[in-house]
Amino acid sequence: MPKSADISASASPLPKPVFHDSVHHIKIFQGDCLDILAKIPADSIDLIFADPPYFLSNDGITCHAGRMVSVNKGQWDRSPGPDKMHDFNRAWLEACQRVLQPNGSIWVSGTSHVIHSVGFAMQQLGFKLLNDITWVKPNPPPNLSCRYFTHATETLIWAAKNKRSRHTFHYRLMKEIAGGKQMKSVWPFYPPSADEKRFGKHPTQKPVALLERIILAASNEKDLVLDPFMGSGSTAIAAIRASRLIIGIEAFPEWNSLALRRIIAELIFVQISVDLCSVSVDRSVCAKARARNGAALQKLVQSERKFYFIGANQREVIYSVEADSLDEAWQKFHATAYARTEILFVIKTETEIYLAQGT
Ligand SMILES: C[S@@+](CC[C@H](N)C(=O)[O-])C[C@H]1O[C@@H](n2cnc3c(N)ncnc32)[C@H](O)[C@@H]1O
Repeated sequence: MPKSADISASASPLPKPVFHDSVHHIKIFQGDCLDILAKIPADSIDLIFADPPYFLSNDGITCHAGRMVSVNKGQWDRSPGPDKMHDFNRAWLEACQRVLQPNGSIWVSGTSHVIHSVGFAMQQLGFKLLNDITWVKPNPPPNLSCRYFTHATETLIWAAKNKRSRHTFHYRLMKEIAGGKQMKSVWPFYPPSADEKRFGKHPTQKPVALLERIILAASNEKDLVLDPFMGSGSTAIAAIRASRLIIGIEAFPEWNSLALRRIIAELIFVQISVDLCSVSVDRSVCAKARARNGAALQKLVQSERKFYFIGANQREVIYSVEADSLDEAWQKFHATAYARTEILFVIKTETEIYLAQGT
């Protein structure tokens, strides 16, 4: 039985995920991770990556792209004070420890604002500490106050569920990636590129390459990975690329939408081509365009709005239709023999073809 199916066997039912892809076993939940984790069965997750709030939003300033900007990330990142912050870290770490399978492991990233509390909570809870990795950013922003060294690193703590755990570590693969030498615990990675932010920006987005390294090092293909603070979905992207199953949890709809945009772009490899043989010079379109817009559009020869229905199980175009709106396209779909097929995505394309030469 696939692991994501095991998850739904939990005593107290999980809420409906905002996204569920049964082919790749991706489940995305919106809500507080403490509530969702409590509904996931014990011992069911192979690997956790957690990038919790850093609690560094203290109205200070920093430098971004050469400009002075506020360090504030959002209300979720405001510090509630050291005791409450530690209580919160202990609570979600304990919830993660419960759902980890006996040999499962967890990675937590953070800056000095939060990582010492995370490490202490792990010791209190009896995790087995495996490594602390220093992620070095080769191009850190300058320190504007000139009263500190410029912050160029983040720490990743890697820990197994408990002292008895026999954790997964792909030593040979890591050695190969390190050019034949044992991989060190200092990892240089650039922050996410502009391409990784093309669907929108999350203030603490992690590079996908960093997540890929973690997932490849500490899990096997088809293992179930969980991210309780998913943000823009970097862990999900890395898990999909590494053929792992993924559960993501994020409290805020804004970040869930961004994660979904990224995940869907990662999943859609459907090739849709314009059938040029069927493109005839539609003179009525030409005439309408001319009437509407005068000379500027007179080279428009073909215009169509098409909807493609992509199957949930067979990831291919099940049905395509020309329609003016999504509602009309669904109506047409329901009138076909495919009406009972489960659909995961509908892709809308608008095609306009212009003659390059004057008509
Ligand atoms: C440091 S960011 C994670 C960024 C993510 N690693 C990425 O690459 O985009 C922490 C995220 O946790 C979310 N968050 C904060 N408190 C939460 C909670 N109690 N449950 C679930 N998500 C929460 C925030 O909205 C934020 O998006």
